[in-house]
Amino acid sequence: MSSLDTPVGTREKVRVFVTGACEGLADLLDALEHHMEIEFVGATDQVRDASATLTGGHLGAVLHATRGSTLPTNELAAIREHTQAPIILLASGEASTLLEEALDADIADVLLLPQLTENIVFAVRKAGHSGRKAQGGGGRAGRIVTVFSPKGGTGKTVMATNLAAALAKIEGKRTLLVDLDLQFGDAAIMLGLEPDKTIYDLVVAPGELDSEKLAGYTTRHSSGLEILPAPLRPEDAELVTETKLSRLLEVARESFDIIVVDTSPFFHGPMLATLDRTDELLVVCGLDIPTLKNVRLSLQTLELLSFPMDRIRLVLNRANSKVGMKPDEVEGALDVKIRFAVPSDRAVPISVNRGAPAVIADAKSDFARSMAAMAKTLAPVGKSGSPAPASRRRLMGRR
Ligand SMILES: Nc1ncnc2c1ncn2[C@@H]1O[C@H](COP(=O)(O)OP(=O)(O)OP(=O)(O)O)[C@@H](O)[C@H]1O
Ligand SMILES: [Mg+2]
Repeated sequence: MSSLDTPVGTREKVRVFVTGACEGLADLLDALEHHMEIEFVGATDQVRDASATLTGGHLGAVLHATRGSTLPTNELAAIREHTQAPIILLASGEASTLLEEALDADIADVLLLPQLTENIVFAVRKAGHSGRKAQGGGGRAGRIVTVFSPKGGTGKTVMATNLAAALAKIEGKRTLLVDLDLQFGDAAIMLGLEPDKTIYDLVVAPGELDSEKLAGYTTRHSSGLEILPAPLRPEDAELVTETKLSRLLEVARESFDIIVVDTSPFFHGPMLATLDRTDELLVVCGLDIPTLKNVRLSLQTLELLSFPMDRIRLVLNRANSKVGMKPDEVEGALDVKIRFAVPSDRAVPISVNRGAPAVIADAKSDFARSMAAMAKTLAPVGKSGSPAPASRRRLMGRR
């Protein structure tokens, strides 16, 4: 089997997860695990045991195996609750009813086992392609950069706000900043804004969410970035559900070049939905043992959630502090290279208290230069569109 050495070239492996069970599945799992074009994320009998991986696993396809001769509607719905990845049904034995029912269902393909592994891999690749086309792939999809740290006060919000401001003002990207620190978010305050609408108002507003509607709820900062602030009252946070946030990010990707997400130190539902769509995860660390310990734990959690490790960028904040620990000790302890080192700088607290991001208010400071360089690295290449829809809308007058 492994003699089928397909030249994969630079092709990206497809991340595949398998749920359910049927005759002949064990052999197939074995073959997939060793196939060069497949990144085999794992398998489980019960869909309900797989929610974290389905949500956070960046899956290219889900293979669901069934023993029944009719469509496993409950299982399929349970998978759909967590992921938009294409679903391929695997069955064995008599399946004519199942094939008939599958025609109208949200399924990419049905394959009857046994099959040549290559047939399965082809179906997986094909499903991935048409899935991307259906989502408007080829067109533009904004990148999602999530700023996370398992500790409070490490500088997430300072970085998220400055990064977003630099992406908008210096890189000229249509930038949305989403404050996902749902209970105590302060991104708007750091930008000196007092918005009258927040992410809470958006998710409780009636009707389907689309980019026009999103534009009615974001607030523009003088740098050009649009912000969707955290709810004003902590108790409103719980209405921002995983499902709402998934939809919000999908919509935001259509009208922005880049979406920066500030977070709280928890892996709650909306955070998992965000991770599932995150292109680059900035994990902020500091030069202190408690933060280092928690960063190490969260890297392990991310691995358990099947988050792709190649999307993690380790950021060391206050990297120049003389505190008896060196950056290379951080790299050693975490076994991850530092991608961005951001200096400690008096300009930061001053700009925070003024409500004016340092990348703009104090562009020559060390911190601002470092953030501008980070923005340059993270800015998606290619032509930027016209100003974000919210600004156009505002010119036309808001409802
Ligand atoms: N590079 C830096 N140099 C100097 N001060 C900094 C730097 N980074 C952050 N700070 C200071 O640390 C404080 C905490 O930063 P920030 O609010 O961004 O952390 P956070 O990770 O978002 O915290 P929380 O989890 O509570 O939201 C800020 O008020 C800021 O003044
Ligand atoms: Mg914060």
